[in-house]
Amino acid sequence: MDKDTVLEIRDLHVSTAEGKEIVKGVNLTVRQGEFHVIMGPNGSGKTTFAKAVMGYPSLKVTKGDILIDGKSILGLKANERAKLGIFLQFQNPVEIEGVGFVNFARSARESATDSAIDMKQFMSEIRSYTEKLGITNGIIGRSLNHGFSGGEKKKAEVLQMALMKPKIAMMDEPDSGLDIDAIKVVAKNVNEIAESNRTGLLVITHYSRILSYMKPQHVHIMADGKIIAEGGKELIDKLEKEGYDSFLNGAE
Ligand SMILES: Nc1ncnc2c1ncn2[C@@H]1O[C@H](COP(=O)(O)OP(=O)(O)OP(=O)(O)O)[C@@H](O)[C@H]1O
Ligand SMILES: [Mg+2]
Repeated sequence: MDKDTVLEIRDLHVSTAEGKEIVKGVNLTVRQGEFHVIMGPNGSGKTTFAKAVMGYPSLKVTKGDILIDGKSILGLKANERAKLGIFLQFQNPVEIEGVGFVNFARSARESATDSAIDMKQFMSEIRSYTEKLGITNGIIGRSLNHGFSGGEKKKAEVLQMALMKPKIAMMDEPDSGLDIDAIKVVAKNVNEIAESNRTGLLVITHYSRILSYMKPQHVHIMADGKIIAEGGKELIDKLEKEGYDSFLNGAE
């Protein structure tokens, strides 16, 4: 078996193209098979952090490093990072008219694995997941995310994760916009997908509900571009009871 992949983020500082610093020194290590959660107030930099790790071209890393298995990936583009097994589920998936879901998923996987896909096998793989995820309305036959409902977009991203089999998956609010039943379905499927591929998970969320169906091991609280508290599941309960105030006051 291959050695476990390790994603290491060291003292990461990230600025926008205009030079506004959003992420202000984050340290975080995610190993394959681990389950990390990032929670934090709106605007604290969680999405910017995840996008920077994925290699978003408009964000600038001004200090620190991002490493996979000890090697810096700062010089790599997003698709090259995907090849190394990094995946990002978007908070707000973009709609791409004219590019079908299947073709998009196919080229993403072919590019990441450098190998051609047998379409028949790929379609039956897709169908096995659409069934489990309760993806209906023929959305996989439509343009990517085009006119998808909020919940359908989130499920389509989970389907993409299933097809990419990443080593480390960052999921930015996989639960936002999902109905009560769909949260359970998504959590169950993410658990299964992560388990079968030994995917390391980094889930960004505001709510404990999805986490109650999952087994998070490490919880990081982000505020104003920094990690201000770290611990286990007990932090989720504390947050649910007390809100961010106690964390923010403790960080002063
Ligand atoms: N390109 C940009 N130019 C200026 N400000 C930006 C840019 N991108 C992000 N920001 C700001 O950076 C801050 C952090 O944004 P980010 O989306 O990372 O927050 P978040 O923690 O994901 O919030 P939420 O929980 O609401 O999703 C926000 O104040 C946002 O407006
Ligand atoms: Mg966000």
